[in-house]
Amino acid sequence: MPDRIAQHRRYLMCRPEFFTVSYRINPWMEPTHPTDTAKAVAQWQTLYDTYLALGHEVELIDPLPGLPDMVYTANGGFIIDGRALGVRFRVDERRGEEQPFMDWFAANGLEVISPVDVQEGEGDFLLAGDTILAGTGFRSAGDSHREVAGVFGREVVSLQLVDPRFYHLDTAICVLDPVQGPTGVEAANIAYLPSAFDEPSRRVLEQRYPDAILVSDADGAVFGLNAASDGRHVLISPRATGFDAQLRERGYTPVAVDLSELLLGGGGIKCCTLELRGKK
Ligand code: ARG
Repeated sequence: MPDRIAQHRRYLMCRPEFFTVSYRINPWMEPTHPTDTAKAVAQWQTLYDTYLALGHEVELIDPLPGLPDMVYTANGGFIIDGRALGVRFRVDERRGEEQPFMDWFAANGLEVISPVDVQEGEGDFLLAGDTILAGTGFRSAGDSHREVAGVFGREVVSLQLVDPRFYHLDTAICVLDPVQGPTGVEAANIAYLPSAFDEPSRRVLEQRYPDAILVSDADGAVFGLNAASDGRHVLISPRATGFDAQLRERGYTPVAVDLSELLLGGGGIKCCTLELRGKK
């Protein structure tokens, strides 16, 4: 079994002090269903503490009243090599988050690029090795894939999402680690939920990632793929038991973190985590 190596990570998170479900922009959200903000904060705190215990760095952006979804920092931008592309939300309810995230990036030494097309950051863009996997179908516009390719000068692979429950790419794919080749980082190990994609996208994934972990619909339905990996430890929902076993078989160490309260807003571990990739 390969020896899995943990890589140091730097993340941006946002304490869910104003978390609630007051509108419905994905099928998980039910505004009439009461939410428990204190419970959301406590669960979030466990995720934060777990990252620190694993030796990662976590930066914080201040939560703002009236922006209950700001806890899902993955949607705040997309950052590679110290360059931060801001976001333009599809939905009006979240557009108030765009400027605060760009302001945070600028104040923290990142080069900020204002976006043109609609896209929701690391919710739909995942860096896999040197390739950007890009989702579309529900939130990020197809045109944004060209824009992100231009901004970062990297190959972009467009993938079409078809199930409204898995409306962001990070609910259907988890990048586990980069794979080193003779000329640098060439590929990546990934896990994904095949039923979240249309047929052509499934074929692309099969071709590019023949060794990928294929996650069951049952594990996908509990947001099992909305996980964060450092290359060795994979933080996942405790309800994704099949995925947990698949990860162990491949030599990864799953670490269960329960964000059930934040799932009421349609988000999980990865949604609450934005990776800050510095200059090489
Ligand atoms: N309520 C939020 C929305 O629908 C949840 C965002 C989840 N984020 C993610 N990266 N998948 O926009």
